[in-house]
Amino acid sequence: MTQTRLDHTAPARAALPWWRRPWIIPLALVVALVLAYIWPHYITLDPATATVPVPPQYPYKYPLLVAHIFFGSVALIAAVPQLWPKLRRTKPHLHRLSGRIYVFGGVLPGAVMAAVLLTYIGGPGWMGRIALEVLWVVTTVVGWRMMRKRRKAEHRRWMIYSFALTMDAFTTRLMIFVIASAAGPRLDLALFLETVAWTGWLINLCVAHWWIERTSRPAVRRTASRVPEPAEASADPDEPGRSPAVA
Ligand code: HEM
Repeated sequence: MTQTRLDHTAPARAALPWWRRPWIIPLALVVALVLAYIWPHYITLDPATATVPVPPQYPYKYPLLVAHIFFGSVALIAAVPQLWPKLRRTKPHLHRLSGRIYVFGGVLPGAVMAAVLLTYIGGPGWMGRIALEVLWVVTTVVGWRMMRKRRKAEHRRWMIYSFALTMDAFTTRLMIFVIASAAGPRLDLALFLETVAWTGWLINLCVAHWWIERTSRPAVRRTASRVPEPAEASADPDEPGRSPAVA
């Protein structure tokens, strides 16, 4: 008699499609790329090498800009270990530590500096930056509050949105390059500034939303506000073989 044998020893991660595997290395490379692009302009502490105009009548703009970029860089770096499922599972204390650094040593001080910088600029793209600023603070604070309340599924959801907004530092610069290359000399500057101020982070938010919907457990998708059962709360949807009903 032939008997079908199930191989229970096969690694669970083999069942995952490629896009569900941890993105930690590409993510770390993208963050390194962004920092390597930005910091040579600011490490000299010379306003003449800044990537945006620093008018002499605003003496505080440059130190604010450098502080904003420093805290933005802390947020980008701290976000990388946060999104590593294995670290969340095996070293939860490190996840908590880098989470606090992300929120209180990166996003919130970076957002305060950005809010002050927004008072120095105006014109095309200003509304897009204001919207980004508000959403950056709201998603991060709500994500942190959800963790305090032990609502892990919602914590995950809001923190993924927060991270998508932090990654505006990458996508906006990418959009500047792509649109400027495509438009060439026909570029309308006002339209260009307006477009890049919105598209970078809106694209990230759409991708983040798609990711959350694809990877959340159905029960979590249906009732996002419910407090999960203890056994369910310990399952990490990003961790191979740990979620019983991933999409
Ligand atoms: C996501 C929320 C953020 C908001 C609302 C925001 C807002 C701003 C504002 C208002 C400025 C001044 C622009 C000007 O003077 O024309 C600025 C500049 C800058 N920010 Fe942010 N920022 C954010 C995140 C980040 C992050 C995470 C980084 C990463 C390091 C970053 C890096 C920079 C840099 C390098 C500049 C200089 C101008 C440029 O090269 O674009 N920002 N930001």
